[in-house]
This record gives sequence, C-alpha cells and structure tokens, in this order.
Amino acid sequence: MAAALEIKDLAVVYQGAIHALTNLSLNVPAGTIVTLLGANGAGKSTTLKAISGFLPLEDGRVTHGSITIGGQDMLKLAPHMIVRRGVFHVREGRHVFAEMTVEENLIASTFAQRKPRPRKEAFDEVYNYFPILSQRRHQAAGYLSGGEQQMLAIGRALVADPEMILLDEPSLGLAPLIVKDIFEIIARINREKKVSMLLVEQNAVIALRYASYGYVIENGSTVLEGSTQDLSANQDIQKFYLGVDASDAA
Ligand SMILES: Nc1ncnc2c1ncn2[C@@H]1O[C@H](COP(=O)(O)OP(=O)(O)O)[C@@H](O)[C@H]1O
Ligand SMILES: [Mg+2]
Repeated sequence: MAAALEIKDLAVVYQGAIHALTNLSLNVPAGTIVTLLGANGAGKSTTLKAISGFLPLEDGRVTHGSITIGGQDMLKLAPHMIVRRGVFHVREGRHVFAEMTVEENLIASTFAQRKPRPRKEAFDEVYNYFPILSQRRHQAAGYLSGGEQQMLAIGRALVADPEMILLDEPSLGLAPLIVKDIFEIIARINREKKVSMLLVEQNAVIALRYASYGYVIENGSTVLEGSTQDLSANQDIQKFYLGVDASDAA
C-alpha cells in the first residue's frame, strides 16, 4: 500500500531570488488522486519538482517547510533515492527520448525500480494499459503522436512500479478524446495498482472529474482546498477555472 505524502509550509526560491513558493501545504492520502489547480506561474510544477528532488537541477532550493512520505523526510534524499522510494515524476512536456525506441525508453526506467523485476513482466504491464505502445515498441519515440508520447511517459513511470506518480499537465496539447482515454487509464492504474497520484492540470474540468480532493494555489501558496465535489460547486472555481459565468444564467 502506498504511503501518504505530506507537505507543510513549503517555501522555494530559485537562483536565491525568485520566490516561487511561499507557503504551500497539501496532503495526498495513500491511494488517492489529488489535484493541484492554479494559473500559469502559480507554482504547480515547482511543487512537483520539490517532491521529486529536481529543484537543484534548476538552481532552486527549499528554504522552509517539510515534505514527508510515510513520515520519512524527502528533503534529505537525492532524486535517485526518491524515485527508488516509490515516487515517480512525469514531467511537463513528456520528455521522452526521441531517438530511442519505445522499448528503449521503457528500459531506461528500469534503473528507477524499487525492486528488480523481470523486464518482460514490467513491459507486459505497460502494454496491458497502453496496447498501442506494444504495436509501436520498435519505433522511435520522436515519431509517436502527442497522445502516444504521453502514454509512453506514464508507461516509463509504470516500469518503476511506483507508489505515487506526480503528473504534470498530462492533457497539455492533446485532443479531448485522447485526454479522456488517457485519464481513464490513469484512473485504472490508481484503482488497480493503488498508485496515488498528485495531478497538476490546467484543464480543471478533467482534473476535478478524476481527482477526489483538490488544492488551488496562487502565487506560491495554497488558498483553497476541498473535495472535488465541493470545489466544482464553488463560485470562484466555476468562474476562474471552469469558465462558468454566473451572469450567463440570467
Ligand atoms: N527554473 C526556474 N528558474 C527561475 N524561475 C523559475 C524556474 N521555474 C519556475 N520559475 C518561476 O517560479 C514561478 C512558479 O513557476 P512554476 O512552478 O513553473 O508554475 P506553474 O507550473 O504553476 O505554471 C514562476 O514565477 C516561474 O517563473
Ligand atoms: Mg507548470
């Protein structure tokens, strides 16, 4: 069973000067899908990078607060240890290795496994969730469609057999039907493998549909939280994130 993620009063600074997060707190209970909503630049990706330990790669630093998983302090761990602890970050923009085949991309994730397992078992699991990747296994990832590349990015996470997946804008630039397909599979992975998800999305409609709980962040702080049912009924959320204008009803 996955362990709970807890972030308390987190502050992050880039280049010693840019205050990207000022006071961010959130929880992801084991086995749940939690979403993080917020405008461009609010600090969503920074939050995920703080969890996965990627901040130093961009000259970012946690200056205050804590991140724990199952009570264990993540801020003391290097990225390769965090991924082995079971937290896999699917970065914004997919970042597949374009020149490598689908299967080579999957092989590249085996380093991140918590426990070694036979390649065939790991790949069969990926192909079970994403059958199209099986058909494309010997093709260069750069020639896949955007949707297939997102599937591959999630497939690479599956190879590592994580407890938690950090998903940064999986719907970005994809057609609505593909987005729905991918989210149905994300929901299956959550249900069948009990993998927790921290989901960052600009597409609030889809995020509120698939997550059970959500947080809104503004200027690096959490300003609103609630069940996605409550958030969907909130007038500010409807106005700013769902494009519902109350005056339309008049
Ligand atoms: N590598 C970086 N170096 C400097 N500033 C950054 C970097 N990444 C993000 N920022 C800044 O931090 C703030 C939060 O960015 P980000 O977390 O990417 O927001 P979001 O994902 O919500 O769009 C923004 O002001 C952004 O310009
Ligand atoms: Mg972002």
